[in-house]
Amino acid sequence: MSHPSEKALVPFVSVDNMMKLIHHIGLEDMLKGLATYIEDDFKRWNSFDKTPRVASHSEVGVIELMPTSDGEAYGFKYVNGHPKNTSEGLQTVTAFGLLADVYTGYPVLLTEMTLLTALRTSATSAMVAKHLAPQGADTMAMIGNGAQSEFQTLAMKAICGLKTVRLYDNDPSATRKCAQNLSGLGINIVSCSTPEDAIQGAQILTTCTADKQCATILTDNMVGAGVHINAIGGDCPGKTELAAGILSRSDVFVEFPPQTRIEGEIQQMAEDFPVTEFWKVVTGQAQGRSDARQITLFDSVGFAIEDFSALRYIRDHINGTGYYEDLDMLADPDDPRDLFGMLTRAKT
Ligand SMILES: NC(=O)c1ccc[n+]([C@@H]2O[C@H](COP(=O)([O-])OP(=O)(O)OC[C@H]3O[C@@H](n4cnc5c(N)ncnc54)[C@H](O)[C@@H]3O)[C@@H](O)[C@H]2O)c1
Repeated sequence: MSHPSEKALVPFVSVDNMMKLIHHIGLEDMLKGLATYIEDDFKRWNSFDKTPRVASHSEVGVIELMPTSDGEAYGFKYVNGHPKNTSEGLQTVTAFGLLADVYTGYPVLLTEMTLLTALRTSATSAMVAKHLAPQGADTMAMIGNGAQSEFQTLAMKAICGLKTVRLYDNDPSATRKCAQNLSGLGINIVSCSTPEDAIQGAQILTTCTADKQCATILTDNMVGAGVHINAIGGDCPGKTELAAGILSRSDVFVEFPPQTRIEGEIQQMAEDFPVTEFWKVVTGQAQGRSDARQITLFDSVGFAIEDFSALRYIRDHINGTGYYEDLDMLADPDDPRDLFGMLTRAKT
């Protein structure tokens, strides 16, 4: 059996190697680096192909493909969302992704993206909060203390200077897990037994729960003036977290309106409900926060460009680390048109 040639090999980052890479770079440094890559790609928003993600729904969850390209590289992520999974010992969200060279169409990176999705989602949230949260915001209510919650908290610490997190989950064991994981990481942790308690004194309200139905994690009367809402968990048709009244009183910022109108909190509103595309805030074409009493709302659903940025970041940071292996993934016959001959010669 001959060895695959160089042309056959695609760098692959396993979960094990991703964990090593994160520790090698340092989690907070990596969150900051990812936020910079994402912000840079938001600045060149118009150079990307954009389409709402392709979703395949079932009774219990969703499987999605998220493609985009900047003309030089092409990327996609496969991701699922199955809220019932944790009760079966499985994760709600798992993902992997691929980056390819547009000129040849050859993949240049295959990577796990379950950890990377948690990092890119939290880096995006914090990058957005840096632009929209009230000045001096240093306290966050973190409602939903599952897989994303520690990442959300640490990104807000690294990028926005968060000092205190107030945790709430309707499953107290999730709050205990989150508090334990965050202890000793330089953040004050307050565990709360009601969502009303969690939002006390918080200028940033993050909702990050998982339920395959419309939920009301924040009711209208819970949200006062001068806060930034980072709404993460409402990201599928029929899956929302906020009372519609909150949306009416907020300035709503979104990633890509054609996707967010289907999947985000604004699915509850009329089709022409006004929203601001967040990339316009980054480029100075739209205003972010205009006054201290305003309620800003990032209606996050997760968009392909954020995954593309994360894939670019990994491609740029694995060289020389050894935290990847080469996969024999692409057929490379001696004569490019002799695929059959390559197969025949491989017969033992
Ligand atoms: N916007 C994005 O880019 C993005 C990216 C990743 C995940 N998500 C979404 O974020 C959500 C959280 O993801 P995860 O991986 O942390 O899920 P998870 O299942 O690990 O955690 C969700 C937590 O929410 C809690 N919860 C459910 N209902 C609640 C309620 N009514 N009040 C308080 N807590 C409640 C659960 O007990 C659980 O601890 C999911 O809905 C997921 O689809 C969004």
